Formats: sequence, structure tokens, C-alpha cells
Amino acid sequence: MKSALISRRVCSIRQKIRGVNIMGYYIGIDLGTSAVKMLLMDANGDIIKSIAKEYPIYFPQNGWSEQDPQDWWNAVKAGIQEITAFCDKSNIKGISFGGQMHGLVMLDENDKIIRPAILWNDGRSAKQCKYLNNEIGKKKLTEYTANIAFAGFTAPKILWVRENEPENFKRIKKIMLPKDYIAYKMTGIHSTDYSDASGMLLLDVKNKCWSKEMLKICGIDESVMPKLFESYDVIGVLKSEVAKELGFSSDSVKVIAGAGDNAAAAVGTGAVGNGKCNLSLGTSGTVFITQNNFSVDSNNALHSFAHADGKYHLMGCMLSAASCNKWWAEEILQTRDFAAEQAPIQKLGENNVFFLPYLMGERSPHNNPDARGVFFGMSMDTTRADMTQAVLEGVAFGLRDSLEVARKLGIKIERTKICGGGAKSPLWKKIIANVMNLKVDVLEVEEGPSMGGAMLAAVGCGAYPDVETVGKKMAHVVDTVEPEEELVAKYEEKYQKFKKLYPSLKPLF
Ligand code: XUL
Repeated sequence: MKSALISRRVCSIRQKIRGVNIMGYYIGIDLGTSAVKMLLMDANGDIIKSIAKEYPIYFPQNGWSEQDPQDWWNAVKAGIQEITAFCDKSNIKGISFGGQMHGLVMLDENDKIIRPAILWNDGRSAKQCKYLNNEIGKKKLTEYTANIAFAGFTAPKILWVRENEPENFKRIKKIMLPKDYIAYKMTGIHSTDYSDASGMLLLDVKNKCWSKEMLKICGIDESVMPKLFESYDVIGVLKSEVAKELGFSSDSVKVIAGAGDNAAAAVGTGAVGNGKCNLSLGTSGTVFITQNNFSVDSNNALHSFAHADGKYHLMGCMLSAASCNKWWAEEILQTRDFAAEQAPIQKLGENNVFFLPYLMGERSPHNNPDARGVFFGMSMDTTRADMTQAVLEGVAFGLRDSLEVARKLGIKIERTKICGGGAKSPLWKKIIANVMNLKVDVLEVEEGPSMGGAMLAAVGCGAYPDVETVGKKMAHVVDTVEPEEELVAKYEEKYQKFKKLYPSLKPLF
């Protein structure tokens, strides 16, 4: 990570070259699963400082996944103090977010956290999903919300709490999503934005209002739901006690609603406007396709959500992407040197080892919380590097599964942006470009959701008229990884084999 001093110098040189004045600073917060990533940006999109602060994730049972919202808030406060330590705090105009989606945060009548948050990659609500998809029926769910039930979505988890923790359920006075809990701690206002709310299975995505039918099915009153905003709307200002704790002199710092992390990442990479694509290679892996008009995937494999620019998007989400590589390197190989593990990988498209990346079950397109990871095809000459390569390729094949659904809907995608921790690996980007047969545009700033959050803050504070304009100004493509014909053909053959593995193993999961 660059030191504050160096990045400030780089920044001021750039400003001299461009001959512009600083019109304020904006803070972007990406409330992720492994850590909160934050950056301080000026109105030109130059990053003054960025940091990450980790917090624990708990897996209380196989396939369950929880975090303590208090850990998020502590990390956010410490992070803000750090990134703003060297700047003139009176210049800070706004704060906004990208946040891990779908997480169920429940508050009681005193706004106290009732139980740990149940996260987006938690698979405990399989039974409730079956009830929603089969008893209520996919057709009705789609009519109410534009989506069907997936285990990580918020509504099935509310039903799980109602069934398994009735005492906790009775105490619910507010339901919030992870980043909205932080916005609440900052402003005292219970809010959410349309992009994040889309993933609750409680929002009528098309009409941008809470679905009365879904609230009834979940047994909750509309008063429990947060107020809805567009991602670039100002929800309030920092409470004076929070401003004081963070070392800000005034309470005029605006808090802007922000977006679910994938929509925020799309803003950060400039995937705004019709027919654009962004791939996120974070803990989860997503294929995000922008749409000017509302539409639904008739197979319900892709989610139909609101975008942070006021429009819509389709999205496929795999539950374990860069986290597969992290698990393989850190837990199994016992190393944190990912680059060294990838260095011996030379021959692409010729690996006989396959990896199914379903370490936390799978969302798109299989919708199966019981699926699990698999290595397939090893022989006595299989090397450590072959298996590392299989992990990277397995994630790329998983992303391709979602892309194929979009292609079958007639959506033409030839190029994509990319962001997330995994996107730092040149090898992984090359594998993705060839497995998916896409031109992969690499951004100057890879911090998708935190950059997107800061950009939404700049729009909310009036520095830019809209999300598309700020995207054009700040998201700079610095390189493109082109697919190579021969390699695409080799990977096509491998993908056809990969595709057969899940259906063959499904009965055994
Ligand atoms: C999207 C999803 C994940 C999380 C990761 O539907 O569940 O991408 O948002 O933070």
C-alpha cells in the first residue's frame, strides 16, 4: 500500500498537470466480507489514500456464515481516521458505500443488534428456499420481486429466523443490509438503496417499492423496512457525536446511500449505460450486465436488480471466486505468496485437472447450497501448479456459466471490465479472457466498490450531475487482455467437459 505521503505528492503533481482545483474529498467504503476497504478521493478521481481493515467471519456450522456488525463499525471508524489523518478534514464533503449484499442485520426496539448478521454466502435457508420456490412458486416470486429465492437472499433467512429463533424474530424492529447499518450508525437514519434492496427478495424491483406480498409471506410489517433511496441520494449528514469521534470539525459531511458492492463496483469501473459488463473477482465472483430497461431472465438463473445509476442490471453470482484461490493457497498450500504459486504455470488450455469451485455451495446458475468443491482428473504426474491452475480455471468456468445464460437470452457481450482482488493476477485475467472469449479491460484503479462508493458520494454532493458522467471522467482503462483464437478453442473443449461434471455429481452432494 502506498504511503500517504507518496500518494499525496503524486496527487498534487497530477492536479498541477491538469490545472484543477480540489473541490472536496470523498470517502468510498467497500464493506466486504473479508475486510472493509476504504479510500479517500478528490473530485478529479485521484486517490489520496486507501486502506483495508480485516474482521473475522464465523462459520458456526458447515455452510453457515456470520459476522458481527459491531466489528464492521469499529473497522470503518478506525479506517476513516487513518485515511483522513493527513488531509484537511474540512474539505471532506461526502461518504458513500458499496456493501456485501443480502446480509440480514436485525435490530431491536433500542436499535441494538439482535444476533450476528447472516451473510450472503450462508446456506442455512435451503428449506425456506424450497418453500418459497415450490409452495409460493417461482412464478409468483418473480411477479412480486423479479427474482426467485436463493439461500443467501434476505427473505429466506428471515423465514429461517422465524422458524428457528422465534424469540429473536419477535424482537425485530428494523431489518437492515450490512452497509446500511454503517450508514445508520453515521446518521441515525434507517435507509437502503434500490440496488442493494433488490437482493432481499422483498423489493418489487420493477416498481422500486417494497412488495406487500413478500412482507406478508415473511410475517413482517413495512415499518420494519428501511427507507428507500437511489444510490446517489443524500440520506443525511454525519451525527455530531460521530463527526467528533472521527475528528471532523463539523457535522456537515453528507452520507450518500451507496449501492450493493456489485453495483458500486460497476460504477467504479464505469460499467454504466446499456449493455456494459463488469466481472468482479472478489470473495464472490459476479458477471454484471447493465440494462437501461427492466427485464427478467426467464430461467431465473441471473438476478434482475436495480443498478446504482437509477436503471437496472442482470447479474450472475458465484459464491466462491477469489476465495477459492485464497483457500487453496492459504489453507491447503500454507502460503500467502499467490504470485509465486502461479509463476510455474505455463501451459494454458492443456490442464487435465478440473476444479469445481463450490466451496460454499453455488448460487448462479445451479442454486444449490449443498454443492461442494471438487478436484477431478488428477494422475501421478499432476503437479501442485496443475492444481493451482485448475482452481483459477474452475472459477473462470463458473463465471462463464453465468455468461452463457446471458448469451442464451440474446445479450451480446464482447468485452468486459474487471475488478476485485483476483483481478490483480495477470495470469488469471488471461485465463478469464480466453475461457470467456471476452476482451478484458483493465482499469487504472482496481478498487471497484470503494471507488464506486466515492464516485456516488461525489454525485450526491453535486460535484457531478449523474453517475454516467462521473464514470466517464474517472474510470480509465489502461490495458486490454485480448482472447487468443487458439487458446479460446482449447478452453472451449475444456469448458464442455467442465459443464458435465456438476450434473454428474449433483446427486452426491
Ligand atoms: C451478490 C452477492 C455477492 C456479495 C459479495 O449477489 O451475493 O457478490 O455481494 O459481497
